[in-house]
Amino acid sequence: MLSGRYKVERLLGAGGMGVVYQGRDLLHELMGEPDPCIAIKVLNDDLATAKDADALLYSEFALTRHLHHPHVVRPFAFGVDAYRHQAFMTLEFMRGVRLDRLLKAHTAGLPWEQARGMAIALLDAVAHAHEKGVLHGDVKPENVMLTEQGLRLFDFGLGQPVDRVLIGLPQMNRHSLQPWTPRYVAPEVRDGGPLTMQADVYAVARVLYEMVAGRKALADAGDLQSCPVRGASSLRKPEGLPSACWSELRVALMTDIRDRKISARQMLNAYKRASKRRFWRWGQAMVSD
Ligand SMILES: Nc1ncnc2c1ncn2[C@@H]1O[C@H](COP(=O)(O)OP(=O)(O)OP(=O)(O)O)[C@@H](O)[C@H]1O
Ligand SMILES: [Mg+2]
Repeated sequence: MLSGRYKVERLLGAGGMGVVYQGRDLLHELMGEPDPCIAIKVLNDDLATAKDADALLYSEFALTRHLHHPHVVRPFAFGVDAYRHQAFMTLEFMRGVRLDRLLKAHTAGLPWEQARGMAIALLDAVAHAHEKGVLHGDVKPENVMLTEQGLRLFDFGLGQPVDRVLIGLPQMNRHSLQPWTPRYVAPEVRDGGPLTMQADVYAVARVLYEMVAGRKALADAGDLQSCPVRGASSLRKPEGLPSACWSELRVALMTDIRDRKISARQMLNAYKRASKRRFWRWGQAMVSD
């Protein structure tokens, strides 16, 4: 039990920074809430004892709470249990399948129709975060949940506000906390550079590429384990991906940040336009049949 209100029930997952449990909000339950299920995130043991641990978790909470978007996980509350001296945050409980699990089951990639819907939702979430001045910092399939209510981007644990947004929030140096996930991290961040919107764009682009081309294609383009980050030049247009989307995706996958001249919003628009055009063509074909 945390703060006499949140009942911890079962472990949902543990990552590099946090441990997440399924639980219940007993106050809401008492008031007759039909779905009192919540997720409760705490820092893992290594970090919980670190200096600024509470501020670290609070920063993740504040960044997430700054966003209001159907494709971003909804945070509920931040608290510190006085008895255990433990900071925690509560979030909507997402019932679904993580994108990495889906992609593992489809090693040759997803059909364009399915990938397109997910890509649009993910780009929409990242574009919203960027427009609100929030950098995610760790976009990867493991941080995307596919629920019955749609896709949710979560885990802003490595996130940062851009300058002049959320002033007063402690600035954390997250480089020392966790190695960046090699397959998705932008080359300049891997080399110690700052997190930027363009770094998020690169990570999203790797995820979108993997969605349509499959894990195997990424493995062919660069060894997944040792993971040299290859430029877009070594990647081929995945079959099924409309050319208009590929020309934008290629820019987003550029190794050199100076060549990566595209925003999440611009990619989103390209994906939306491509899908419309396809529907239009299908519509035409059906009418002329
Ligand atoms: N709101 C939620 N509802 C349901 N499950 C969740 C929720 N939040 C997290 N999880 C599960 O817990 C796992 C770990 O959560 P999260 O990614 O936030 O922790 P993390 O330690 O920051 O992860 P990492 O650093 O490895 O990316 C997730 O991969 C997911 O399976
Ligand atoms: Mg995570």
